Amino acid sequence: MTRRPIIAANWKMHHDHLVAIQVVQKLSYRLERDDYEACDVVICAPFTDLRTLQTLTEADRIPILLGAQNCHWQDRGAFTGEVSPVMLAKLNIRYVIVGHSERRQLFDETDDMVNRKAKAVLHHEMTPIVCVGETLEERDRGDTETRVTDQIAAAFAGIRGADAERCVVAYEPIWAIGTGRNATPDDANATIATIRAALRRLVSDAADDIRIQYGGSVKPGNIAELMRMSDIDGALVGGASLDPDEFARIVQYRR
Ligand code: 13P
Repeated sequence: MTRRPIIAANWKMHHDHLVAIQVVQKLSYRLERDDYEACDVVICAPFTDLRTLQTLTEADRIPILLGAQNCHWQDRGAFTGEVSPVMLAKLNIRYVIVGHSERRQLFDETDDMVNRKAKAVLHHEMTPIVCVGETLEERDRGDTETRVTDQIAAAFAGIRGADAERCVVAYEPIWAIGTGRNATPDDANATIATIRAALRRLVSDAADDIRIQYGGSVKPGNIAELMRMSDIDGALVGGASLDPDEFARIVQYRR
C-alpha cells in the first residue's frame, strides 16, 4: 500500500495576511513541479490569511493546498467568534486541523467536539487532520498506547468507509511540540503503527489508506529519517514551517 505523503505547515497564530503572501510566494519560488508531484504540500494558516492565500494561489496557479487550523461543527448559527465549515469550503480549503493538542489543552476541546468537527469537515468535502498525542506524564506512566488509542476511537466514532479513508491523522506527542525534543523515528513509527492498528479495528481496510503524520519539532535535519519509517506518511510542522526556506527544505526531504 503506497500512501501519498503529506507535508503540512501549521503556522498557529503567526503571520498576518501580508506576511502570509510573502511567505507563500517565497515558498513557491523554491518548490518545483517534482516536489508537488511527490507529495501534498499544505499550509494551515490563520483564518484571516485564508481568503488572501486562496486568491494568491489561484491567480498564480501555485499548487500549495490550503488548510484551516480549526472550525465549528455547525453550518451556521449563534456562535459568536466561530467559523463554520461551510465558510471554509467556500474558500477552497482542503484540510482542517481538528483536535490539536493546543486546542484540547488551552481551549478545553473534548474528544466529543473533535469527533463532531471531523464529521462536519468530511460532510463539506474537506479532509480533517485529526490530532492525537500523549502528555509527558502519560508517557512516563507508560500510557501512550492507551491514550492515543482512546483518542482515535473517540475521534472516529461514526466515521467509516470512504469517509474514514479520506481522513489524515497527526500523531503529535505533546512533550515534543515546540520543545526541540522529538520522538526518535523508531518511537514515532511504533506509536503510529499502534494508531494504525487501532484504526484497523475501527474502520477495517480503510485504515490502510489513512495517512498518518508525525508532528513535534520536525526540522530539515530530521525529516528524511522520519519519512523513511514504514508507517509515517508525512509531517505536521509548526515552528520550522514559518520560514519558507526551512519549510521548502522539509518538503524536499528526498533530495
Ligand atoms: P513544532 O514543529 O513547533 O514542534 O509544532 C508541532 C505542531 O504542533 C504542529 O501542529
